[in-house]
Amino acid sequence: MTHILGIETSCDETAAAVVKDGREIISNVVASQAKIHERYGGVFPEIASRQHILHIIPVLEKALAQAGTELDQMDAVAVTYGPGLAGSLLVGVNVAKALALAKHLPLIGINHLEAHIYANWLQEDEKILFPLLCLIASGGHTNLVLMSGHEKYQPLGQTLDDAAGEAFDKVARLLGLGYPGGPEIQLAAQAGDPSAFDLPRAWLKGTYNFSFSGLKTAVLYLVRDYPATAGPLAEGEGASSDDLPVADLAASFQAAVVEVLVEKTRAAAEEWDARQVLLAGGVASNTLLRQQMTERIGVPVLCPSPELCTDNAACVAAVGCFKLSAGEQAGWDLDVVPGLKLIVTW
Ligand code: KG4
Ligand code: ZN
Repeated sequence: MTHILGIETSCDETAAAVVKDGREIISNVVASQAKIHERYGGVFPEIASRQHILHIIPVLEKALAQAGTELDQMDAVAVTYGPGLAGSLLVGVNVAKALALAKHLPLIGINHLEAHIYANWLQEDEKILFPLLCLIASGGHTNLVLMSGHEKYQPLGQTLDDAAGEAFDKVARLLGLGYPGGPEIQLAAQAGDPSAFDLPRAWLKGTYNFSFSGLKTAVLYLVRDYPATAGPLAEGEGASSDDLPVADLAASFQAAVVEVLVEKTRAAAEEWDARQVLLAGGVASNTLLRQQMTERIGVPVLCPSPELCTDNAACVAAVGCFKLSAGEQAGWDLDVVPGLKLIVTW
């Protein structure tokens, strides 16, 4: 039996968790700063790192208390060291080093993207089969990655500009919705018509790369020039910008993002004979995306529960368990790497 303490502070969630044998969550505590960053429409880095300093110890204590365990009973401390915001990552890495040093525990450095992928291993009873294709879609990343085994990654494509979640956040702001934008757009879209606006899809044919900035700009122009952009009906009836059809815009935007994510994932899964498709990252909690992936992809699609899609420390501890059993341990010189990518070990 292996118990790992996971720590995550890469962005605006301060999180700690205890995971058994890489698959069973014993405790999982997340302190979100979303309310504080809401007024900026995105994460304010300096505020984020200060909030982590305030919350990290209470969050750690809560995670250990909820697990009914003590630090001494852990087999290792796993911490996210990149990619992410430098100041935020530093808080988690320094606390993890202090705990590991004080209790003579192995320290394990975790790639945040790997952690998102391994959230899928925390789903009870899910059998994971290689080779598999993983779509990581979060506020900072959009990557298609082929996995041939544990920690064996081949990146197939990524976003060339905005990440999918970033596009959700920015468009939500344009539409006057709250932050984070993904859940807000999903909610607004429920009352909208996804075919109301014909928004662009960047297919970038022949690649598995993504681009969402053109889509975001298309929404920007529609909003800026409304009601002229809505056609003669709205104009003729004397509509004003106050009548912005937020639900239709949200639904049309969500449909455009989802169509590209699903189509590219489907094509890659087919080309690479993937046995399964795994979804990961905050955008993977989007209901339309999950539904369309399941309907349109010919192999089983697994996705973590919504609270494990967004940033958390349970998935950090899950990767930590695999790394510990593979003998991968970090030195005391472990440093943050804000621009870390997935390492190719194919
Ligand atoms: O993985 P995550 O918690 O943090 C990063 O590593 O970036 O992802 C946060 C992102 C935000 O951009 C948020 O708007 C998006 O995930 N998100 C969603 C949904 N829930 C969260 N996007 C679309 N639909 C959702 N339901
Ligand atoms: Zn994340």
